[in-house]
Amino acid sequence: MQTAGATSRLMGAVLIISAIVVATPASGATSTAPLPAGAEVVWSHAPFEMGECGLCHTSDDAADPGPVSGEVNELCFGCHVETQEAMEAASMSHAAAVDDCTSCHNPHNSSHHKLLLAQPPELCADCHSEVWEEATQSPVQHEAVKEGVACLNCHGPHATNVDHLLTALPYNLCVDCHGQPDMIDDDGKQLTNFSELLSTNPSIHGPVAAQDCSACHQPHGGSTFRMLVEDYPAKFYAPFDAENYSLCFSCHNESVMAEANTTTLTGFRDGSTNLHFVHVNKTDRGRTCRACHEVHAAPQDHLIRDGVPYGKGDWVLKINYTIQANGGTCEKTCHGAKSYDRSKTVAPETGPAE
Ligand code: HEC
Ligand code: HEC
Ligand code: HEC
Ligand code: HEC
Ligand code: HEC
Ligand code: HEC
Ligand code: HEC
Ligand code: HEC
Ligand code: HEC
Repeated sequence: MQTAGATSRLMGAVLIISAIVVATPASGATSTAPLPAGAEVVWSHAPFEMGECGLCHTSDDAADPGPVSGEVNELCFGCHVETQEAMEAASMSHAAAVDDCTSCHNPHNSSHHKLLLAQPPELCADCHSEVWEEATQSPVQHEAVKEGVACLNCHGPHATNVDHLLTALPYNLCVDCHGQPDMIDDDGKQLTNFSELLSTNPSIHGPVAAQDCSACHQPHGGSTFRMLVEDYPAKFYAPFDAENYSLCFSCHNESVMAEANTTTLTGFRDGSTNLHFVHVNKTDRGRTCRACHEVHAAPQDHLIRDGVPYGKGDWVLKINYTIQANGGTCEKTCHGAKSYDRSKTVAPETGPAE
């Protein structure tokens, strides 16, 4: 490569740059000097455009303006009072902006809008390579982090009033996007419209009612199903293993699923027969929680859903659950009508069908 002609040296450089772009998309344009002649200029900073080098440098001589005449951020704040005021008023500022405005902006001109050295997400990925790796190398990825204004969908570049430089509370960020109809995931599956779900279902899961989507989801991507913070089975059936439910059991008592008989651990029992155990705790086709519960919000108490998407075509299997004084009934569902009654003193002759 070293001894090859100019063209192949150039090609080598292009190859190396594109390799970097794939791994961590380095902006390449980290120099804050004016762009070289011939470069595409999308925006030129007014004071530079007017040739008034001396506003920031020690001299007005464009051929040799000398060093900058003061601390860089102070120079910027001399004119960008709004940015300074916004940063001072905010409860959280970005260390990168407090340190040096030119770690993201070229003070002269740029081939990106807003005088940026690169566009997000590349701009941000330069310093936040771990987040970028999570976003682009994880088995489950989130379009919000990579597409459009990317990081700026949720974060501000300078300062904000929410922890982690978020531009709004996570719940509002999430529901703003996930409150639209016809959203689909990477596999073409229809996603929930949360505005509709939350306004039409009275029984809302504790952490969702507390507006805490982050209690269960990672924002940037992850190795778990649906970017959950802990494991949860992806399908309707799963062999029982408490570890696969560590998400639910991080807040709920896991012994509910481990004891065949109980008169205290759960309300879902017929006499002392633990029906959670009966349904969930199987070595092969245990029903996962989604067979009966909707995890975000549901039409009736105990987060019991009306129906559950079943099979490849997501055909909706009705549950037809009704609550009764000491228990409840399910009919025309996975099995014929079945009731449970906690006040029974003897176990039923037959348990629910397999
Ligand atoms: C709005 C403020 C501002 C204006 C106006 C400005 N510069 Fe700069 N310039 C800077 C800053 C800040 C740096 C980076 C200094 C640093 O990184 O420490 C810089 C760096 C440079 C550098 C690179 C110096 C080096 O050693 O890397 C050159 C060349 C330069 N400016 C030329 C000019 C010329 C020519 C003009 C006028 C036509 C001009 N600048 C106007 C703020 C400005
Ligand atoms: C971490 C990167 C980063 C740093 C550091 C940074 N900015 Fe920005 N700045 C941005 C981005 C990204 C935008 C574009 C925001 C948008 O398009 O919504 C921007 C936009 C701006 C704008 C245009 C108006 C606006 O708010 O959209 C000004 C002015 C500005 N920055 C000034 C500054 C000053 C002054 C500093 C230093 C105190 C600074 N920036 C530091 C990333 C940065
Ligand atoms: C002498 C005054 C002056 C100084 C000093 C100054 N700016 Fe500006 N800046 C301007 C003006 C004027 C504009 C154009 C305002 C507009 O279009 O709204 C501008 C616009 C910008 C924009 C927005 C560009 C866009 O595309 O909308 C950014 C970003 C910016 N400046 C960053 C900086 C940074 C970083 C510094 C410090 C290195 C700095 N400015 C120092 C006067 C200044
Ligand atoms: C020049 C390096 C640099 C660039 C470019 C940069 N950051 Fe940062 N960022 C930092 C540093 C340093 C910190 C403070 C240390 C830390 O918390 O990791 C930080 C902190 C953060 C935090 C807060 C972490 C927390 O929870 O307190 C967020 C969010 C963030 N950056 C997002 C962004 C986004 C979005 C961009 C692109 C617009 C960006 N950063 C560009 C260096 C950078
Ligand atoms: C969908 C909204 C969203 C997008 C888009 C997003 N983030 Fe975040 N980010 C968050 C939330 C929420 C947190 C707080 C995480 C928590 O509470 O666990 C966070 C935390 C962070 C942190 C601090 C904690 C950590 O994980 O290191 C950094 C740094 C960060 N984000 C950088 C980025 C960068 C860089 C991008 C773009 C590549 C980006 N984020 C895109 C929502 C988002
Ligand atoms: C800017 C819009 C936007 C924001 C903000 C946003 N999302 Fe998303 N999200 C999407 C889109 C588009 C998809 C579908 C494509 C995909 O899977 O990435 C999606 C997919 C998802 C998925 C399914 C991922 C999968 O493939 O299994 C989850 C879970 C998710 N988002 C949770 C969240 C959470 C939690 C928040 C708030 C921290 C949030 N989203 C904020 C746009 C957004
Ligand atoms: C108690 C934990 C928990 C909380 C809190 C939570 N989720 Fe979920 N979320 C899950 C689980 C579990 C799944 C997988 C559901 C399934 O497949 O049966 C999921 C799936 C999703 C999906 C993909 C599937 C779909 O139907 O769209 C999105 C998007 C999503 N959640 C967004 C959110 C948003 C937005 C919030 C906050 C309003 C939130 N989640 C709060 C646990 C939670
Ligand atoms: C971050 C903690 C947290 C996580 C994780 C969590 N839950 Fe919950 N859950 C709660 C809280 C809080 C309540 C409300 C408690 C109450 O009303 O007594 C609740 C209530 C419930 C209820 C309704 C109880 C009733 O009788 O009204 C069901 C069903 C439920 N969760 C199922 C699940 C499932 C399934 C998972 C795993 C996918 C899960 N939870 C994960 C905190 C959590
Ligand atoms: C076959 C249907 C079914 C399955 C599968 C199921 N549940 Fe339930 N669950 C119920 C019913 C019905 C109730 C309401 C019991 C009552 O009458 O109080 C309930 C109640 C609950 C409660 C409230 C406390 C209690 O036990 O009474 C929690 C928490 C809960 N379930 C969590 C889970 C978790 C976590 C999973 C998955 C590991 C799961 N459930 C699987 C039907 C089911």
